[in-house]
Amino acid sequence: MVEFLGGSSMKFLAYFVFVCWFTVPPVEGRVRHYKWEVKYEFKSPDCYKKLAITINGRTPGPSIIAQQGDTITVELKNSLLTENVAIHWHGIRQIGTPWFDGTEGVTQYPILPGDTFVYKFVVDRPGTYLYHAHYGMQREAGLYGSICVSLPDGESEPFSYDYDKSIILTDWYHASRYQQAAGLSSIPFVWVGEPQSILIQGKGRFDCSTPGIQADLCSATNPECTPYVLTVIPRKTYRLRIGSLTALSALSFEIEGHNMTVVEADGHYVEHFVVKNLFIYFGETYSVLVTADQDPSRNYWASVKIVSRNSNTTNGLAIFNYYPNHPQRNPPTVPPPGPHWNDIEPRLAQSIAIKSHKGYIHPPPQTSDRVIIMPNTQNRINDNVRWSINNVSYNLPHTPYLIALKHNLTHAFNPFPPLEGYDFANIVEINSFLYKPA
Ligand SMILES: *[C@@H]1O[C@H](CO)[C@@H](O)[C@H](O)[C@H]1NC(C)=O
Ligand SMILES: *[C@@H]1O[C@H](CO)[C@@H](O)[C@H](O)[C@H]1NC(C)=O
Ligand SMILES: *[C@@H]1O[C@H](CO)[C@@H](O)[C@H](O)[C@H]1NC(C)=O
Ligand SMILES: *[C@@H]1O[C@H](CO)[C@@H](O)[C@H](O)[C@H]1NC(C)=O
Repeated sequence: MVEFLGGSSMKFLAYFVFVCWFTVPPVEGRVRHYKWEVKYEFKSPDCYKKLAITINGRTPGPSIIAQQGDTITVELKNSLLTENVAIHWHGIRQIGTPWFDGTEGVTQYPILPGDTFVYKFVVDRPGTYLYHAHYGMQREAGLYGSICVSLPDGESEPFSYDYDKSIILTDWYHASRYQQAAGLSSIPFVWVGEPQSILIQGKGRFDCSTPGIQADLCSATNPECTPYVLTVIPRKTYRLRIGSLTALSALSFEIEGHNMTVVEADGHYVEHFVVKNLFIYFGETYSVLVTADQDPSRNYWASVKIVSRNSNTTNGLAIFNYYPNHPQRNPPTVPPPGPHWNDIEPRLAQSIAIKSHKGYIHPPPQTSDRVIIMPNTQNRINDNVRWSINNVSYNLPHTPYLIALKHNLTHAFNPFPPLEGYDFANIVEINSFLYKPA
């Protein structure tokens, strides 16, 4: 267990926001304390004004910057007035602290309006992770951010770079999250449709001249929707820590005229491979290395496109800015259109290329003590389609499961379905349109 060392580093830490690269004095297992207030605020991340959920006034929220072995404490005040909150630390293993996992209804009661709750956990692996709301659809309203865990001093990664930056990609809908949730649970199901824009680190661009858009809600000159700028120094190498927290969209990320070397996937070092487009699905993170080795007299586009669905959403654009060019100077070129939405070859090639880095292979045990089969299906329940595991679909329990376990409240659990009689060979029977056994 790591002792709480006091709050002397608090103010110091608050300044490290987007840039993860920094040096710290060689102290084992520091405590990094964050104080967050979660609130409603009107924001115009894509020029269109919408009620968002912010942390300390911002979306994405502040980045958590730490070193392996550090203890993170987040003192979270819920100032939403009429809504609960819980935050999930995506990719953090929570060894010894499952109650701080942030999954409302499973590991904790939600944080009530006006309440403050302190999360406290150890980041035990280096890598790129995310945090996001785990109550209702608050993540879609902007309640998310990045977690960047570097190695202890004196240890190095199996690659080198000069600086690093965290970039989170999301899809952004103008319909409220309540409207989206109501549609998803309606009979028949109502889909909200394609996202209105793609946000790159919280910035996107919706065309305010779209017919039917109220002029006072959308302004193309709002400084909140200037493109995200990634400033680079010529010849330096950057580690981009890219995460996706889309609701639905699979994405392709590329930087015009630059290849990227993939070095990390979901917190694991991988054998290096070069891509022009990085394909990324919701909940994933990658680190890619990019060297600013092109003509430095101009800027370049970074472009994000929805793939795997024939979406008509405009590509998200950011500016890859070579210092000292003006950061907002548009590149002289047409942004790259991105891959065709249903060109699966490069996506498959990327998946196949991901292999654990040779120096970091943890072979699985040769034998198992116990085999647990968890069929994951989509069941039709009262004309609704619901995801199920072991044929059980999740309903919010009255008592969070972990708390029920602690207090021996066994009646709080769904009866576990008998797996005898479960027709594995014909799972397709309960799952008429998704999974077909070979
Ligand atoms: C990117 O990689 C491709 C394939 O290896 C190569 O043909 C191309 O020249 C590279 N581009 C740059 C800018 O390095
Ligand atoms: C995409 O299609 C939808 C449905 O037809 C339409 O409402 C929307 O305006 C289109 N978006 C763009 C960017 O063309
Ligand atoms: C739960 O049951 C276990 C085993 O019977 C017992 O040791 C423990 O004290 C019980 N806990 C509570 C909170 O009742
Ligand atoms: C699985 O659930 C479906 C309803 O969604 C039910 O019809 C079926 O009998 C269940 N199968 C088993 C083996 O429990």
